[in-house]
Amino acid sequence: MKILAIETSCDDTCAAVLENDRIISNVISSQIDLHKKWGGVVPDLAKRAHEEKIKPVVEEALKRARVKMGEIEVIGVTYGPGLAIALGVGIAEAKRLAKKYKKKMVRVNHIEGHILSNLAKNSKGKPEREIEWPALVLTASGGHSKIVLMKEVGDYETVADTLDDAAGEALDKASKMLGLGYPGGAVMERLAEKGDENFLDLPRPMKGRKGFDFSFSGLKTSFYYKIKDWKKEKVAKNFANLAASFQRAVFDSLLNRFEKAIDYYKPKTLLASGGVLANELLRKDLRKLAKKKGVKIYLPWTKKLNTDNAGMIGVTTFYKAKRNEFVKNIEKLDREARAKL
Ligand code: KG4
Ligand code: ZN
Repeated sequence: MKILAIETSCDDTCAAVLENDRIISNVISSQIDLHKKWGGVVPDLAKRAHEEKIKPVVEEALKRARVKMGEIEVIGVTYGPGLAIALGVGIAEAKRLAKKYKKKMVRVNHIEGHILSNLAKNSKGKPEREIEWPALVLTASGGHSKIVLMKEVGDYETVADTLDDAAGEALDKASKMLGLGYPGGAVMERLAEKGDENFLDLPRPMKGRKGFDFSFSGLKTSFYYKIKDWKKEKVAKNFANLAASFQRAVFDSLLNRFEKAIDYYKPKTLLASGGVLANELLRKDLRKLAKKKGVKIYLPWTKKLNTDNAGMIGVTTFYKAKRNEFVKNIEKLDREARAKL
């Protein structure tokens, strides 16, 4: 089954071509430079950039895969959650192509895409992964932080959510507070490498609390009050220490909640995905945790699959198409900015 997948839920214009669950091409046109000076994503700018880029990005994905539009069998597109006006651009183009070339359509939830990025294969069909069910998934990005119990592909139970900010959002906000720019996660990671994690004493939100939910806004506020009276020079001198301390608090929270959920649900496989899981330190810590618990863990085989991309939307399209979950009425397909998993 040849699949064309489109993803425009935030600030990346993405298209991918797949043969079943094998990614043949995965094109991402990032808008980071466009939004950087504003310290975050500006919806109107994102929409315009998506409109400009969507056709060339789709063309590039087809060209790299050496596949013609006529050979595509299914078009998959992200319908939500995400920025409404950005989602609209990808959906409109996917619908246009589906109508013009008479293709079936599948609508994909962005978070399901992040979860199934773990099942994506390269063009040679690697890696082959034996997922034993149930699996417990930790997925964290700029828009969500969740622990999901998965009984099989397509069967998800959200067992933990964030009560306020997402983990990536917290990293982005702390980075902004320090004047380090956007997106914060990757900047903080680079700086934190040389910093002291124990430099600043920060809270570990939700630790010891009932359930498995996350909360990051208290941590952000505490960070703000600790450094708000500092001179600029003192902040600058301690960029690495501050980044390391904040990052540690966010990761400890993710790890602590995940460990508690592992003990409770006793999954046979652990999965982890989303932009925040591109972080090397967090990946290492998670592998350590999996070893301690005696459960195997999988992360996407390339970090490109962690941050937003259409490859993960294509893999999800494949699994949904296999279950015959096609869009019944293409005209009625619409964005859902607050779509639930
Ligand atoms: O999945 P993603 O590309 O988009 C959303 O769906 O939000 O995730 C982006 C988020 C941002 O908050 C970014 O700061 C964070 O993932 N991120 C990272 C790293 N790379 C991206 N966080 C920690 N370490 C990284 N290396
Ligand atoms: Zn995402």
